Amino acid sequence: MVIRKASLGDVDQMKTLIDFYASKSRMLPRSLSYIYEHVREYTVCKEGELVIGCCALHVTWRDLAEVKSLAVDPRYMNKGVGKDLLFAALKEAKEMGINEVFTLTLESEFFLKNGFKKTSKEKLPMKIWGECIQCNKYPNCDEEALVYKIK
Ligand SMILES: CC(C)(COP(=O)(O)OP(=O)(O)OC[C@H]1O[C@@H](n2cnc3c(N)ncnc32)[C@H](O)[C@@H]1OP(=O)(O)O)[C@@H](O)C(=O)NCCC(=O)NCCS
Repeated sequence: MVIRKASLGDVDQMKTLIDFYASKSRMLPRSLSYIYEHVREYTVCKEGELVIGCCALHVTWRDLAEVKSLAVDPRYMNKGVGKDLLFAALKEAKEMGINEVFTLTLESEFFLKNGFKKTSKEKLPMKIWGECIQCNKYPNCDEEALVYKIK
């Protein structure tokens, strides 16, 4: 398994993976256009030609970024892929000088196990809510907000 920044050849498989979880209301869907435009935000985990996981790091503000679209192919769950992708995103954040990384998720236990702490959504900047309007759960959000402080 190799963890590396996504390339254009990975995009179709990333979309399939994200669509799979979006269809179960586990994450927001992403159009092909969105993924191409944001492809430099994504890291992938590959086994041969197969994309088995992906994760995006989206810079929000001077010292804040969001982990988005963390998804692992169900056939490869519980093998450390999600953790490796998450820590690759956190490493990238650190290298960019970001102090704090947050996520909005239904998988709080996974993030708590990996160093995140629960926070109140109200503590996050207003600008992050722009995307929520696209969510079919809006305004009844069931995701929790968690943050990771980078030393
Ligand atoms: C959440 C997800 C990314 C975890 O990926 P994974 O590759 O299966 O997880 P890992 O094998 O890296 O697990 C790392 C650690 O977290 C734990 N863990 C994994 N999933 C967990 C969960 N749902 N709840 C609690 N702990 C979990 C593992 O037991 C492991 O613990 P350990 O280090 O003590 O052994 C994956 O289940 C997934 O893609 N879920 C659906 C999409 C989703 O909801 N993504 C959330 C972000 S939007």
